[in-house]
Amino acid sequence: MHDFLTDPRFAGIEKFEGKVWLSSPTMHGDEQKWVDDAILTNWVSTVGQNINEVEKGIASYLGISYVVGLSAGTAALHLAVRLAGEKLYGIPQAHHGVLEGRKVFCSDMTFDATVNPVAYEDGEAVFIDTEPDTWNMDPVSLEKAFEIYPDVKLIVLAHLYGTPGKMEEIRRIADAHGALIVEDAAESLGAKYKLDGKWVETGTLGQYSCISFNGNKIITGSAGGMFLTNSKEDADKVRKWSTQSREPAAWYQHEELGYNYRMSNIVAGVVRGQLPYLDEHISQKRKIWERYERGLAGLPVKMNPWDREKSIPNFWLSCLTIDPEAMEYVERGDLDEHWTSEAGKSCPGEILGALAAFNAEGRPIWKPMHMQPIYRSHDFITRAGLASKDGVMTSDTGSDIFRRGLCLPSDNKMTEEQQDRIIEIIKRCFG
Ligand SMILES: Cc1ncc(COP(=O)(O)O)c(C=O)c1O
Repeated sequence: MHDFLTDPRFAGIEKFEGKVWLSSPTMHGDEQKWVDDAILTNWVSTVGQNINEVEKGIASYLGISYVVGLSAGTAALHLAVRLAGEKLYGIPQAHHGVLEGRKVFCSDMTFDATVNPVAYEDGEAVFIDTEPDTWNMDPVSLEKAFEIYPDVKLIVLAHLYGTPGKMEEIRRIADAHGALIVEDAAESLGAKYKLDGKWVETGTLGQYSCISFNGNKIITGSAGGMFLTNSKEDADKVRKWSTQSREPAAWYQHEELGYNYRMSNIVAGVVRGQLPYLDEHISQKRKIWERYERGLAGLPVKMNPWDREKSIPNFWLSCLTIDPEAMEYVERGDLDEHWTSEAGKSCPGEILGALAAFNAEGRPIWKPMHMQPIYRSHDFITRAGLASKDGVMTSDTGSDIFRRGLCLPSDNKMTEEQQDRIIEIIKRCFG
């Protein structure tokens, strides 16, 4: 292990007294009020005013008709995928997932919660490579995927790190093939996208969309998520599934498989206190991204890109990639990595190690799904077509961003002084 604190390159830099986080919860006070309200009025359950209010609040913020509060973004994604599966393929036999024997086109560079629901429903995720302009699903590779598998009818995609993907192109391709879109807006709540000349919110761009209030998200409930749709019938179905699929009888009556996925009124109290601060958090995160961009200018690095004409990200996480010629030699295994220090060059492992030594939290770029042991045997489609399996293909965009990129400390409570010190640490890594 390299000792960064005694490395002369970092002389004069002080370790942070309190940890600077990647992205931690930021409470404002009202959260306590609404949680107390739930407890004092005895609505300590999966029904209550906090849930009603946050469902209304999110519907109005996003401009979507129906919102169902759930226990997690993952639960929302599961029910969205199941619903899309039933629409496309009908109700499955008992003990069979609705996607059994079906392929689904999925974002490759995302958190695994985006794609796992396809496996929960016995489907087979086919991963679509990433484009370099926004780091999301590549429409060109998606078109290629439909050439190879024209019968696929479902696309599951995410907006990575709060940056909207190329939704106009993707929606056009989906429509041309009669495919449904499940949109994972877990990381992008509050990000905007210009669709056919009109600004809309991420979370309204799929037939079914999902958001998350996990503790690291732009606003949080400590946990929680939401299912979003413009169809009342679909929202009613998801609400029913999320509360164990009870039929309207005096006793427990069940015709369909159910889940215990409903949001708690306590969790909703935290979200209710956070919601008025969503725009403030976004503007703080944007300032952080812009300060990094200015501070890192002159280094052989690029910030995570976005389409300035068609999107306004929520800037949830600031990231960078190191230019290819400034990358040190790195060997990465499944669980560890080794690099060789070289003057004027660096690598994500070195920068993350230096940040950690000075008590700041960064993170590697989310490792693409086609490289994950659990999904390595799945098909992976790039602009060139079907890539070779078993994670050996390295010329795709996703694995290149993973190799050269990292997520920077992006906490909205980080002070300018702290961020400047982080920028200085990164500069010294290239010394
Ligand atoms: C892209 C993405 N999808 C889904 C999830 C899952 O959300 P949750 O943690 O609320 O289940 C997360 C993060 O947690 C995420 O980053």
